[in-house]
Amino acid sequence: MHEKVVYQIYPKSFNDSDGNGIGDLRGVIEKIPYLTKLGVEMLWLNPFFISPQNDNGYDVAHYTEIDPLFGTMADFEELVAKAKENDMGIMLDMVLNHTSTEHEWFQKALAGDKKYQDYYILREAKEDGSLPTNWVSKFGGPSWAKFGDTDKYYLHLFDVTQADLDWRNPEVREEMFKIVNFWLDKGVTGFRFDVINLIGKDEVLLDAEDGVGKARYTDRPIAHDFLHELNQRTFGRFEDIMTVGEMSSTTVENGVKYSNPENEELSMIFSFHHLKVDYKNGEKWTKIDYDFMELKRILDEWQAGMSQGNGWNALFWNNHDQPRAISRFGDPVNHFEASAKLHAQTIHLLRGTPYIYQGEEIGMTNPNYLDIQDFVDVETKNAYQELKEKGLQHEEIMDIIREKSRDNSRTPMQWSNELNAGFTTGEPWLEVADNFHQINVEEELANGTVMDYYKRLIALRKEMKVISEGSYRGILMEHPSVYAYVREYEGQQLLVLNHFYADPATIVVPEEFKNRSSKFLIGNGEERELGSSITLEAYETVAYLFEK
Ligand code: GLC
Repeated sequence: MHEKVVYQIYPKSFNDSDGNGIGDLRGVIEKIPYLTKLGVEMLWLNPFFISPQNDNGYDVAHYTEIDPLFGTMADFEELVAKAKENDMGIMLDMVLNHTSTEHEWFQKALAGDKKYQDYYILREAKEDGSLPTNWVSKFGGPSWAKFGDTDKYYLHLFDVTQADLDWRNPEVREEMFKIVNFWLDKGVTGFRFDVINLIGKDEVLLDAEDGVGKARYTDRPIAHDFLHELNQRTFGRFEDIMTVGEMSSTTVENGVKYSNPENEELSMIFSFHHLKVDYKNGEKWTKIDYDFMELKRILDEWQAGMSQGNGWNALFWNNHDQPRAISRFGDPVNHFEASAKLHAQTIHLLRGTPYIYQGEEIGMTNPNYLDIQDFVDVETKNAYQELKEKGLQHEEIMDIIREKSRDNSRTPMQWSNELNAGFTTGEPWLEVADNFHQINVEEELANGTVMDYYKRLIALRKEMKVISEGSYRGILMEHPSVYAYVREYEGQQLLVLNHFYADPATIVVPEEFKNRSSKFLIGNGEERELGSSITLEAYETVAYLFEK
């Protein structure tokens, strides 16, 4: 499984087959040949289940039915079959921490059904009338909302329309197993579990000293028990189901536990610390230059720690919740191809499973929307209000939002130079980025070199054990602009040097690699032999292979 690369599809923005402005499953089917050529072997699709779409499908109202916005069950079955014919699996996005408040269970609970009230986390106000705990929702504001006209409150760690489920209730767990098994029966061979390290809430919920609350519900030991049980009752019954857990604010120690095969929990995890290096004092809605040394330190810490504990990382820069990496850590204006390839190589040659987010393979950037009306994401809208209340001026807020909004990555896929970048013949649900005339698949296939580079990296992982299975060791950790590492496997060594800035950097090659013959495996600059020093040009990345 370690030789595979995953491609993430945001169905709403991938390809619209019926002209209603929203991407759909038939749109994905149309692009199977494109994905096959890229060489990816697993397609992760963000949720397309029945949902009021308050959080773009992460508010699920029916777990085993497809929202008509995206198509039908027949379309889905066809997608699974076509993908399989081309040696690709389908990975579904399971949102099992919470349901939409429009889910039948929540509606029954509201109507007074005790059984379903026990599905959710309901608590009374404190004696002084204040909310059950002081926890803050991840989308802003308190994490408790009034439960109908009762004197209780329900917990929502995300939007007020996303009610947290009570995994301590065995009936809830049975429901979850049924859902996952339903999709396994449909031929699904992968699952991405949304914010799955938040499912283990304590029996007695307590105020948080920091007034935020994360530590009270994140990575609780019981979350591991629940995941083990989920594994045993569902996907763990089969060989080769790929699973990845989205882990909010997790630790290396927990990452190891979740993904070490001995524990029978998950195949791998997403962690996000490396994508918080442009948060000022840990606060997302701020605007500062990213801290490269911190980025290096975190990547290294996770690579080394997960290796040691035999855990497994998902490797990624982009997803539907992150601004585009090329806009964030690269230079899409002056060094477009170099920075796109640098980012690709940095993670594709690490230990773990690389994920490509749609459009990354052609270097898609943030869209630079003009005003707040262009944004639709609920988190972004809440942030706008909160920043306003803090006293920031409109333009100051917009500068932050243009860099940090999740809509940055959710813009329609840029297929061609035609109307709406070839994504839809209708009115797109979210504006297309205005650079689609330059950056699009057609143009890339005709004249570009970024996608080819991705293809080579994907192919190399399949061919070379040193990439898919090799050990990891970070080197030159003090270097201010280069992230360097060594991968080793049965006598082979791969030296990877990744230079994250525009000004050239000269590196003295470490003693262990001096005066040894090596092969230039792949790089985004000029192919050359490795001497006793090497000068890396703007955003240059190189990998040299040594046979012992
Ligand atoms: C995850 C998803 C994100 C969603 C949240 C709540 O972080 O990736 O898009 O808003 O969970 O389900």
